[in-house]
Amino acid sequence: MTIDSALADATARLSATDAARLEAELLLAAVVGQTRTYLYTWPERELTAPQQQRYAALVARRAMGEPLAHILGRREFWSLELRVTADTLIPRPETELLVEAALARLPPAGGRVADLGTGSGAIALALARECPACEVVAVERSAGALAVAEENACCNGIANVTFLHGSWYEPLKRGRFAMIVSNPPYICADDPHLKRGDLRFEPLSALSSGADGLDDLRLIIDGAGAHLLPGGWLLLEHGYDQGAAVTALLRAAGFAAVADLPDLQGHGRVAVGQFSAT
Ligand SMILES: C[S@@+](CC[C@H](N)C(=O)[O-])C[C@H]1O[C@@H](n2cnc3c(N)ncnc32)[C@H](O)[C@@H]1O
Repeated sequence: MTIDSALADATARLSATDAARLEAELLLAAVVGQTRTYLYTWPERELTAPQQQRYAALVARRAMGEPLAHILGRREFWSLELRVTADTLIPRPETELLVEAALARLPPAGGRVADLGTGSGAIALALARECPACEVVAVERSAGALAVAEENACCNGIANVTFLHGSWYEPLKRGRFAMIVSNPPYICADDPHLKRGDLRFEPLSALSSGADGLDDLRLIIDGAGAHLLPGGWLLLEHGYDQGAAVTALLRAAGFAAVADLPDLQGHGRVAVGQFSAT
């Protein structure tokens, strides 16, 4: 079987996915250990029997709904190549909005930044890479996810992040922060989306947060004042329909300059507030 015909077969098998041809190419590129350009350059090249078997197995997993990032074991986020596993959330493009908003609000000379619920390390590592003067502390309750985040720091050559195991603020013993960022679990416990698509394969503890999805956002907002410097920022990713609730929680907790930043679809996605302790 040639590269060309293998791709045509796989694209047909994956026709139920949004980007069947692209995914077929990414899976085959992984199997042959080459780039997608190679597949276009050598369409008539024959695959070996082991390559054909391995490709068929990967395409079958994808056809069963397993996320592409889990099959490949990696996902790109903010130009970083991140390992992802069943222990981590797959970093989402909308989370890059939080990174952009954080970079726009960091003190010019850097400072201490906490990323609560770091998962694969996506946010912490993007901020650390963009702001070498920052000292980033990444907290995660899942030991499995924390190990992946540490590995991602190492593979990407990023040294200005400290990883701490524990729940939200509990492992943060020392000093205050110029900024706290978090993309916490925020899906309602009974949301039917949890049983569909990629979400079925991701850890429930990374996704769901109580009856209204706001349990963890409330805990993080309530605790932030004890850990932020005066003038420090809190930035929180939330669900597309939670902007009013999260900004109300920020105002009730005494935050100033509260705003909800929209994603590309125009839905509020990242709530921000500035700690104004007197
Ligand atoms: C929505 S995921 C976000 C992961 C990553 N920050 C990202 O944006 O891709 C939420 C993360 O919070 C972690 N988490 C959940 N409850 C936690 C808690 N009480 N303390 C610390 N981390 C927690 C989960 O394990 C998960 O990794």
